[in-house]
Amino acid sequence: MKEGKTSYGLHLLARSSKGAIAWDPRHMIDEEMAERAGFEYLTTVDTGQDLEEAIQEYDPGELVVVRPSGLDLETEFHEIIGVLLDPPERFHDWALLVDEAASLQSAHAITPDLDRIVRQHPRSALIVQTTHSLQDWHRSSRDLTDAMVAFRLQGRSLDAFVEYADGSEDMRQAVLDLPRHHAILIDCGSEPGAEEFTYIEPQEWWNNKVLDKSFSEAYNGGEHGETGGAADKGNGQEERFVGEGSPRTPPEND
Ligand SMILES: Nc1ncnc2c1ncn2[C@@H]1O[C@H](COP(=O)(O)OP(=O)(O)O)[C@@H](O)[C@H]1O
Ligand SMILES: [Mg+2]
Repeated sequence: MKEGKTSYGLHLLARSSKGAIAWDPRHMIDEEMAERAGFEYLTTVDTGQDLEEAIQEYDPGELVVVRPSGLDLETEFHEIIGVLLDPPERFHDWALLVDEAASLQSAHAITPDLDRIVRQHPRSALIVQTTHSLQDWHRSSRDLTDAMVAFRLQGRSLDAFVEYADGSEDMRQAVLDLPRHHAILIDCGSEPGAEEFTYIEPQEWWNNKVLDKSFSEAYNGGEHGETGGAADKGNGQEERFVGEGSPRTPPEND
């Protein structure tokens, strides 16, 4: 079930940063997706060296898409993060989408470089992860997350989401009742058990629409909030997690 995780992640990148990079292990991101998210064009790279050049020649409106060969994802990701964080300040105000992030973590283990970028990125930077198997979300990712966006979920992914949110049956039902492409945003900065949640309707962001006020308040309000145009504020660490379960797609890492 394709709901819009990657598209929505790109949308956040386009609105939130002065420079955007997408890690695209499945080679899913094409020009149409990039343009729909608000980018003018897309550049693809497959090595750290090419990424280095792309960063040096970066133009506003550009989306740099990293398409690893997939032969050794961890090593390839290591090369990319090495370039992004050398030195860490160069990543100031930039954003990274880690698409299909379950290929770099499980509940019990996380690729050291994903751990590193989640922990060491400049506070003004935005990191967005997507997955269809939320149960593979590692604790170190979770602990530093500001907001979580769930499309329709089922099975273990839904259990993981409800458990993380507030454990309530209301939350479970709210997710089960989501229509296609609709999502629920949780502000992870709230007190445990008191998570605020906000509905995100597809037309609010699809086709490069500017998000409505209540939605941007969900991001910008509260002590952990910041983003959208948060690049300027630099007052909090940002993580996003866009999860969705698929009844037909088994978790990748199992
Ligand atoms: N907000 C939306 N409104 C309408 N269609 C959408 C929306 N988001 C995604 N889609 C459709 O769903 C497809 C899958 O989007 P994608 O971002 O690849 O999803 P995922 O990453 O969850 O698999 C897109 O090609 C598009 O046709
Ligand atoms: Mg996707």
